[in-house]
Amino acid sequence: MTSMSAIDTASLSGTAAPLVTFRGVRKSFGALEVLKGIDLTVAPGQVVALIGRSGSGKSTALRCINALEPISAGELEVCGYSLHRPGVDLRALRQEVGIVFQSYNLFPHLTVKQNVTLAPRKVRKLNRDQARELASEVLAQVGLGDRMDAYPEQLSGGQQQRVAIARSLAMRPKLMLFDEVTSALDPELTGEVLRVIGKLAAGGMTMVLVTHEMAFARQVADQVVYMHQGKVWEQGSGKMLANPQTDELRQFVGSGL
Ligand SMILES: Nc1ncnc2c1ncn2[C@@H]1O[C@H](COP(=O)(O)OP(=O)(O)O)[C@@H](O)[C@H]1O
Ligand SMILES: [Mg+2]
Repeated sequence: MTSMSAIDTASLSGTAAPLVTFRGVRKSFGALEVLKGIDLTVAPGQVVALIGRSGSGKSTALRCINALEPISAGELEVCGYSLHRPGVDLRALRQEVGIVFQSYNLFPHLTVKQNVTLAPRKVRKLNRDQARELASEVLAQVGLGDRMDAYPEQLSGGQQQRVAIARSLAMRPKLMLFDEVTSALDPELTGEVLRVIGKLAAGGMTMVLVTHEMAFARQVADQVVYMHQGKVWEQGSGKMLANPQTDELRQFVGSGL
């Protein structure tokens, strides 16, 4: 508890070190430059929503944060790691930064509990009882405490995505990244996943999420970042969606995406 209140005090007084800092980050794939100088800061406890058209560079920016993509220029600090420098311990980084994708990729032959505890059992050498306790804790966080022994195929898409979120939580990340995690789901299953993410956000989890759910972005995000053609085009609180300053964001919001 003491460390938690220390973080609160620090963030209130604005002294908490950011968990993520982009400084002039550029990223190219061959001749194609997809990030053209990104500056962005994520403070502890903040929820940042990345929005924008398909191809604007949102996923690439997100994937740079846990070094799934190396950056081409600029500086990127994540949880104290300088990703622009050589020799970063990627395994250590990825234990602190969880990522959840649109496709949940659970192991079909493993139970929910086994899926969720596979990585922590390996990395943190948990015994059977500790693994079970961890599974029950993180599955409760996603509202699936009673489905520990189910197999993925016995669950709906929304439930499977919630298991994928629990699997990420089981590593006790400091930062969570979500890339359009509801895009593959039927509309009636989207709400349950967004509610879980909203609850994590309210609980103080620091997160960066790429989403097409504008109402959700407006509600949960402390900072909304509109990306356009590889740049941060417009940035502000959720209120900026109601009052865009650029033609591009106005069109994007107006298009209902
Ligand atoms: N691994 C890759 N190799 C080549 N081009 C890529 C790769 N990943 C993304 N791109 C290109 O980078 C641009 C931005 O993609 P992306 O970051 O996925 O955008 P968004 O998530 O906003 O739709 C697109 O033109 C895409 O085709
Ligand atoms: Mg994308």
